[in-house]
Amino acid sequence: MKNKFEKNILCIGAGYVGGPTMAMIAAKCPQYKVTIVDINEQKIKAWCSDNLPIYEPGLLDVVRTARGRNLFFSTEIEQNIREAEIIFVSVNTPTKSFGEGAGKSADLQYWEKTARNILKASDSDKIIVEKSTLPVRTAGAMERILNSNDKGIVFDVVSNPEFLAEGTAIIDLEYPDRVLIGSHETERGRQARQEIVDIYANWVPRERIITSNIWSSELSKLVSNAFLAQRVSSINSISALCEVTEADVHEVARAVGHDTRIGSKFLHASVGFGGSCFKKDILNLVYISESFGLTEVADYWESVVRINDYQEKRFVLKIIRTMFNTIADKRIAMFGFAFKANTGDTRESPGIYIARQLLDEKAHVIISDPQALQNAQLDMAGIPGKIEYEIDPYKAAEGAHAIALITEWDVYRDLDYKKIFASMEKPAFIFDGRNILNHQKLYEIGFNVYPIGKRALTRI
Ligand code: NAD
Ligand code: UGA
Repeated sequence: MKNKFEKNILCIGAGYVGGPTMAMIAAKCPQYKVTIVDINEQKIKAWCSDNLPIYEPGLLDVVRTARGRNLFFSTEIEQNIREAEIIFVSVNTPTKSFGEGAGKSADLQYWEKTARNILKASDSDKIIVEKSTLPVRTAGAMERILNSNDKGIVFDVVSNPEFLAEGTAIIDLEYPDRVLIGSHETERGRQARQEIVDIYANWVPRERIITSNIWSSELSKLVSNAFLAQRVSSINSISALCEVTEADVHEVARAVGHDTRIGSKFLHASVGFGGSCFKKDILNLVYISESFGLTEVADYWESVVRINDYQEKRFVLKIIRTMFNTIADKRIAMFGFAFKANTGDTRESPGIYIARQLLDEKAHVIISDPQALQNAQLDMAGIPGKIEYEIDPYKAAEGAHAIALITEWDVYRDLDYKKIFASMEKPAFIFDGRNILNHQKLYEIGFNVYPIGKRALTRI
């Protein structure tokens, strides 16, 4: 079996990153055997079916291209470790919720367990690739654990952070802006790095494959996410200013973004950024800076998260104040719950905070989302209050006093808002947390319209 393929690649962790990333490598490189293992049996079963464990446009086609040919999913971790020459580690690295560094530093328990599993099961040299996002200098700890063996085995640790965004993962993987591979600047380190470069060179233009020292690679991943989140917080902070000055955040973003030095992407004002990584990676950066005594650096980056919390809070307060300072017993339909469009992922979604706050105010919350209702139910489990889940936005809005648009799903742009208006309590409010709706048209239909960072169109 092993000899049939040029390389034997393993990925530990079949999540949002491990699954799509390895499926792409397998699809592009039929000459390699790619196996993905996970401790979660259900997940592995789902990867082997046509009902994949994550919703990601185009993913099923890529998986189908390679599954059973050179792409395999398994819960048999030890044997697959033994057989692999290259092991990508893509386990979760959430924010630590206990002990020293709780709420900021990365919880590396899954990461370290993986390192120990690799150490235990291996009987030959291997290249270990950090795919998970990790604090800078984690590779050093990984090497110390792995190379503490008395079997005479040498492990080379390489950093290859992932930059895909959910909802566009397949395009991001097929046409990445860059692939980053860091290693020690030693002969062995450079050789290991080259092995990983060779994998990506099967489909990524060579000039897009960047190599660096291992610490730069680890840090660049945290910094990339911090910079992206900072842009969102920057424009969101300005949205608050727009609302009190009658400037329009969309016009400001367009004018500012036309400067090629600034660029136009990631300047969409919103209810706030969500997702499993922005907050966790910034807080990790904050923690690392603090632990090196760089208080000013830590404060600077922490403010990005503070503005995000402020933006979510502002959105809820606007709903309450606008609706005559009470939303008790009022039906509020939430259009969208995922942290962004085209994913069912709700991790750190602003929707979670907003729903909780609305329930706290004793509102009756109806959550609608084309893909995220299952996750929404898990997120809201055990939270007291009146809450319903309804996939059909027309039904969700029936009898509602207000609609709060949380996720920029295309389906919400083209609904029959006349019909929706007719079915709602009056006065009917719409809070567009993504600025994707036609506000003038909604106003003409009869809604009181509250966008982000723009003048409200209101009849009362
Ligand atoms: P995830 O939770 O979706 O997947 C992680 C998987 O690892 C889970 O299925 C879990 O069961 C498995 N796992 C944990 N411990 C294991 C062990 N000892 N052996 C085998 N499997 C184990 O997480 P994710 O979103 O794929 O993120 C993984 C890493 O990639 C994180 O460090 C994250 O910061 C980073 N990242 C995520 C994204 C994203 O879009 N989600 C993008 C870039 C980078
Ligand atoms: C982000 C990065 O874009 C990826 O490069 C990175 O690999 C990934 O994090 C990660 O490390 O997990 P992702 O979180 O999937 O990807 O999605 P983004 O498109 O970055 O959106 C993040 C959040 O910011 C979403 O809630 C989105 O709605 C919000 N956002 C984004 C805005 O509010 N305004 C914008 O202009 C852009």
